[in-house]
Amino acid sequence: MRLAPSILAADFAALGTAVEGVSAVADLLHVDVMDGHFVPNISLGPPVVTSLRKHTDLYLDCHLMISDPAAYLPAFAEAGANGCSVHVEIGRTGELIGQMRELGIDAGLAVNPDTPFDAFAEYLDQIDLLLLMTVFPGFGGQAFMPEVLPKIRRVADEVERRGLPVAIQVDGGIDERTVQDVAGAGATVFVAGSAVFGATDPVAAGRRIREAAIAAGPPRP
Ligand code: DX5
Ligand code: ZN
Repeated sequence: MRLAPSILAADFAALGTAVEGVSAVADLLHVDVMDGHFVPNISLGPPVVTSLRKHTDLYLDCHLMISDPAAYLPAFAEAGANGCSVHVEIGRTGELIGQMRELGIDAGLAVNPDTPFDAFAEYLDQIDLLLLMTVFPGFGGQAFMPEVLPKIRRVADEVERRGLPVAIQVDGGIDERTVQDVAGAGATVFVAGSAVFGATDPVAAGRRIREAAIAAGPPRP
């Protein structure tokens, strides 16, 4: 399992310190990019990724909640993103995956809570990461949507059946309680914003989420 603290919940005026503060418990850093168009909120863009890159060696995983990723993927790759996820709802998915491959970054596909399995199944063998949203994107601190669990299970079954090297990431309302359900359903990468950065001790909070996920996940040899 891997834990991905979402910097959306961090203090943007002290981002370097916040990132350093969670590096002991973070496997990757989740960077939420919102354009005020695909989602009704604006967060940050490539210059912040450039700054983060200078501060950390952590894997920078950019979740692009933007309407026109084709226009901005080169800037994120140039800024030092290790991987990007584009939303399947905007279309041109095959082209965008090709563009991420050409740019030499990991290719991720993000999926809204109400987008069905059939809308992205055909891309499962072309991507490195599938980001299943467990809230509607746009804001941190929303309540986890348990109705997404059957989709997570279906993806995990399909990935295992076909032996695909796809990481299954969940994002939205993940804390030490809800992580048990998503880990039990087969997710392997856990994004947590408020549950980590909103805690008095973010490292301890991250460790509790990690332990809960390991305890609830599939048995290991
Ligand atoms: C929501 C973002 C999430 C968000 C998660 O639009 O994609 O990554 O930061 O925040 P929490 O963990 O607070 O739900
Ligand atoms: Zn996100």
